[in-house]
Amino acid sequence: MPCRPQRGGPALARSIVFAAALFASVACCAATTGADRGRLLLAQYQCGSCHSIPGVASAGGRVASSLKGFGARSYIAGRLANRQETLIRWIQNPKALVPDTAMPSMAVTPDDARDMAAYLLELK
Ligand code: HEC
Repeated sequence: MPCRPQRGGPALARSIVFAAALFASVACCAATTGADRGRLLLAQYQCGSCHSIPGVASAGGRVASSLKGFGARSYIAGRLANRQETLIRWIQNPKALVPDTAMPSMAVTPDDARDMAAYLLELK
C-alpha cells in the first residue's frame, strides 16, 4: 500500500484542540492575573493557617495578625515601611528582613510573592 500523508481528519482535529487550548489559556489568564491570582495563591500556600485574610478561602488563622485592611497599614510587622517591594521580599523571606520574626519562610517564588502582595495591598 502506498504511503500517503494523511489530510483532513487528524489535521482538523489538531487545529480544534489548538484553538480550544488557546481559548482556555486566554480565558484562564484574563481571570487570574495579579491580585486575582494572588488571592488564589494565598489559599494555596496556606497563609491562612496563621492569618485571617478577607476574601481568601479557609484563611481564618489566629496564630498571627489578621491581614484585614493591610493595604492601608503603614508598617509590615510593626517595623518595615509597607511598600510593595518590601512586602514582596517579606513574603519570600521574612527572616532576612526581621531575623527574630516568628513568620516562617515558605519557599514562595518571586512571581507568586508579587501577586500575593498585589492582593494584600488592595485590602483597604
Ligand atoms: C506559621 C504561621 C505563619 C504563616 C504560615 C504565615 N505567616 Fe505571615 N506572619 C506570621 C507572624 C507570626 C507574623 C508577625 C511577624 C512579626 O511581627 O515579626 C506574620 C506577619 C505577616 C505580615 C505582616 C503583618 C503585619 O501585621 O504587619 C504579612 C503581610 C504576612 N505575614 C503575610 C503572610 C503570607 C503572604 C503568608 C503565606 C505565604 C504568611 N504570612 C504565612 C506567621 C505566619
